[in-house]
Amino acid sequence: MLSPLPIALAAIATLTVVLVSTLKGTGWEPTGDISDEILERRAESLPETDFPEPGNRAIGGGGGGAIPAGGEGGEGALEDGSEASAGPGDIPDDEVEYYEVEFAKQGETIELANNEPILDQGEEAGWDLPYACRQGQCVSCAGRVADGPSEDYLEHDNQQMLEDAELEDGYTLTCVAYPRDSFTLETGEAP
Ligand code: FES
Repeated sequence: MLSPLPIALAAIATLTVVLVSTLKGTGWEPTGDISDEILERRAESLPETDFPEPGNRAIGGGGGGAIPAGGEGGEGALEDGSEASAGPGDIPDDEVEYYEVEFAKQGETIELANNEPILDQGEEAGWDLPYACRQGQCVSCAGRVADGPSEDYLEHDNQQMLEDAELEDGYTLTCVAYPRDSFTLETGEAP
């Protein structure tokens, strides 16, 4: 049979060790937040530059290819003159020229200004001419120049429907067509 004395001594020794280590602690302490320290060290290791923060592309970040905001008159900047957007309808009134255009089906010849669409001028003459979009995006207003390729006699401003062969055949979209010569026009003629 075991003697109770060694067991008691072992138990006391164990409790003493536990008690001492509890009182002393393990010596471990939680690590502090070192993120700031790491960021500072990284910042110190980077060379100094004048570039804006790379993430801020809106103010030209990202390196030498950036275009300075608010710079004066860089390449591609719009100029005050309206050259880039000038269309056939932008001819100033004091430079307008007139051409005699015969409206074959109406049996009349009228003078058309070169800065206003043929459709508009035909309507101003009192004719009920066909149209829908008035933007060169359908063929409702189509007509045909009887004298040859339509663009020999007029200029289209952004017509998107007629193909080259149809223009060669004399077809035109009168809502976006501006006269550049005298000719005979058959209204209501689509390819
Ligand atoms: S009205 Fe549509 S293209 Fe002229």
